[in-house]
Amino acid sequence: MKKALLAVLLICCWLSARSATAQQKDPNGHAWWQHAVFYEIYPRSFADSNGDGVGDLNGITSKLDYLHKLGVDAIWITPCFPSPQVDFGYDVSDYQAIDPMYGTLADFDRLVAEAKKRNIKLILDFVVNHTSDQHQWFLDSKSSRTAAHRDWYIWRDGKGPGQPPNNWYSTFGTAAWKFDPATNQYYYHYFYPEQPDLNWRNPAVENAMFDTTRFWYQRGVVGFRLDAVDTLFEDVHLTDNPLLPGTDKFGRPKMSEKFNKKQPEMHTVLKGLRKVADEYHAVLVGETWTSDVKELKDYYGDRNDELQMPMDLMLTGLPLSAPVLRDHIAATDSSGYWPTYVITNHDIVRSYTRLGDGSHNDDIAKLMAGFYLTLRGTAIMYYGEELGMKNSDPVRQEDVQDPIGRLGWPLEKGRDGERTPMQWTAGPNAGFSTAAKTWLPVPESAKTHNVETESRDPNSVLSFYKKLLHLRKNDADLREGNYMALNTGDPNVMSYLRQYQDSAVIVVLNMSATKQTLAFDLAKQGFSGAPAATLAQNGAEVPTGAFQSVTLAPYGTYIAKLTK
Ligand code: NOJ
Repeated sequence: MKKALLAVLLICCWLSARSATAQQKDPNGHAWWQHAVFYEIYPRSFADSNGDGVGDLNGITSKLDYLHKLGVDAIWITPCFPSPQVDFGYDVSDYQAIDPMYGTLADFDRLVAEAKKRNIKLILDFVVNHTSDQHQWFLDSKSSRTAAHRDWYIWRDGKGPGQPPNNWYSTFGTAAWKFDPATNQYYYHYFYPEQPDLNWRNPAVENAMFDTTRFWYQRGVVGFRLDAVDTLFEDVHLTDNPLLPGTDKFGRPKMSEKFNKKQPEMHTVLKGLRKVADEYHAVLVGETWTSDVKELKDYYGDRNDELQMPMDLMLTGLPLSAPVLRDHIAATDSSGYWPTYVITNHDIVRSYTRLGDGSHNDDIAKLMAGFYLTLRGTAIMYYGEELGMKNSDPVRQEDVQDPIGRLGWPLEKGRDGERTPMQWTAGPNAGFSTAAKTWLPVPESAKTHNVETESRDPNSVLSFYKKLLHLRKNDADLREGNYMALNTGDPNVMSYLRQYQDSAVIVVLNMSATKQTLAFDLAKQGFSGAPAATLAQNGAEVPTGAFQSVTLAPYGTYIAKLTK
């Protein structure tokens, strides 16, 4: 009898798990994350609930209504685990707890529960390549050559007295090997010396790290952004990297990272992480630095069994140019994979500053929203992007917080500029904190570009973002439609259709500083003679009657519905 009951119970669990999987796809076979907008939160800088000048989890919870109204589906929180904060959380000393600076596990559980009430999902940042040098694993590893965790990291003898095992660099400006006099060996660190690389060839490391993901999945996290996956493995023979002509921003000879980046074994680990993610119907986003779309394809896995969302970070390096962006999107969209678009993040100069021309910056911010929020694919926003927050770099070396900025000054000013406090109001500390001093200064631009002021202005960058996020969620053409480039020879204006069934959304983006008029012939697509209904626009004029042309002010945007 007991056995029969158990069997019934098991079948029920299996059926409900299956239906949960089925529920995760829409009628077109798309999973929730494919139509989602993710929003990256740098927790130090989002909202400070306890007045210590640093943001925290309760601060994030207090802003969930804002995020919900904005139209965000999921948040990605950069590392909030215990950490000495050498790399502001990317040096984790305990993967299964919350740094007291950010709150407690109870605060985290409350954040997940409150987000769920608002239909917002949460992903965490998993630092897979390295730990902090203060992690128990490393402290033990360092303690002796025979320690239980010795082989959890990459320890090697030097080539000779005072000579590291090979010529590799840390990307953060120093050598990649640190000598430990106690055990007379070097350990490898691709990032700061305080971030020793894990040895993923050791199955114990793999088990411990996979279990870490289970720990968070069971607490309600629906996925991870995987940090620095390209550096997971190093060549077994530690072959010297070839040198290249010229010097880098730290003044070192340039080097090709042939033997310490993008080693093929990385894909085995990504497959393993995906297997665990699949047990929980979770999604994996990757920090994937690629130089072309062909390379990006590798991260999805040969059987779609690695990352669902390798980030297209190439977009963060492209200029605002219709031919360049048109070619890039054509290649990505036709690759057969689901794209994940990003225009800025906590390591990259904000798009407002990067792409702004100094006189049309708000128009360009709206244009960029009109661009990447209307493409076929998932979008990842960065906090403050919806306000037109700009980069505010430190002006004096002594004010720099990010260690690479102190080391590489003035060529490398570090990443403080893109991590300044979120601008909530025009008041003290932009409403971010009640502290006398915030961890990074609040930029002057907070006086004009902040949530409170922009919410009252229907023409603000924020109002434009809200409109687009709402459209993206509710318009079937934008959710499901094909991407079709239009007027592909135009040097100034990028335009495309997102067509699904009997209607389409047309997007026209003037990527130049001069007024442009563009004529369209949509007979082939079946839209000749149809008028267009404007959905969102900035600086656009359209003659009445059948849709035939658009005139756009410099950096103007036009988005409209066409119906057959
Ligand atoms: C990439 C992260 O985005 C960056 O902020 C960090 O410094 C490095 N990985 C090292 O974890």
